[in-house]
Amino acid sequence: MRKNVLVTGASSGIGRATALRLAAEGHTVFAAARRTDRLEALAAETPGTIVPVQLDVTDPDAVRGAVAAVAERAPAGLDVLVNNAGYALTGPVETLETDAVRAVFETNVVGLFDVTRAFLPQMRANRRGRIVNVSSMLGRMTVPGSGVYGGTKYAVEAMSDALRMEVRSFGIDVVVVEPGFVDTEIDTTSAMIAHDGAIADYAELERDMTAYLAAQVKAGATAEAVAATLVHASTVRNPKPRYVAPAKNAIVLKVLTTLPTRLADRLKLQTVRSS
Ligand SMILES: NC(=O)c1ccc[n+]([C@@H]2O[C@H](COP(=O)([O-])OP(=O)(O)OC[C@H]3O[C@@H](n4cnc5c(N)ncnc54)[C@H](OP(=O)(O)O)[C@@H]3O)[C@@H](O)[C@H]2O)c1
Repeated sequence: MRKNVLVTGASSGIGRATALRLAAEGHTVFAAARRTDRLEALAAETPGTIVPVQLDVTDPDAVRGAVAAVAERAPAGLDVLVNNAGYALTGPVETLETDAVRAVFETNVVGLFDVTRAFLPQMRANRRGRIVNVSSMLGRMTVPGSGVYGGTKYAVEAMSDALRMEVRSFGIDVVVVEPGFVDTEIDTTSAMIAHDGAIADYAELERDMTAYLAAQVKAGATAEAVAATLVHASTVRNPKPRYVAPAKNAIVLKVLTTLPTRLADRLKLQTVRSS
């Protein structure tokens, strides 16, 4: 069945690939982001239906505007909301700036919360809908340098789990997708380690983390591979509550979350340092 789907963060990476794949499958895609020139180009390059929607998830007026834009084009409302917009702020906890920490929570957590709340009343009225939240494997386990970014994704996981139970009786489902490293623009749009050595004690760890993250993102899955999981989670009749993407990474998550904490700590630190 043809669905109305809104994808946030559709101007690049995972969101863009997801929008293209959904449109190719015949769904109507509301592609939302701040960079509308990119969304216009996306709409022009697909034979499917992609409707650009200007949206900064941290701007309440823009969120209301997105609801109005969807209502105008699809009066019956959304079938699926894909909350994908986000970025990373990485680095040893003590080296990060308070404003930068606030900002990443504002986008990854509060923004996702606001967009979700804006579309929920219509889904409740329809007694039907699905919300697919993009978390991260770092929302289930922590490595050095991921304390704050992972914190935003742990919040997404908790909100998703609570919401899934709260809206189930209204015919709404909530699904979480947890990518591992993915080769997208995240390493240029995000602060991947504050590598300025401002606190000398952390300089060596920052260097190792920077090299580790750059290598992992470049060697990561393609955005298209993760988009395939997101499209499945958005359209399959009975989705699982959460998907690791690509699925082969699930074993890493299982092992690292099952090992005794101090042993897992040692393994993770060694991995970061030896890259
Ligand atoms: N790449 C990875 O290794 C990886 C791993 C796990 C999870 N993830 C998650 O996957 C999601 C997508 O990331 P990506 O890797 O595809 O990165 P990306 O290529 O940098 O894309 C990020 C998208 O988010 C949008 N965005 C950022 N801030 C926004 C805001 N305030 N309002 C609206 N849109 C905003 C950007 O659009 P505009 O700048 O045009 O607004 C862009 O379309 C994120 O939630 C990220 O945390 C990524």
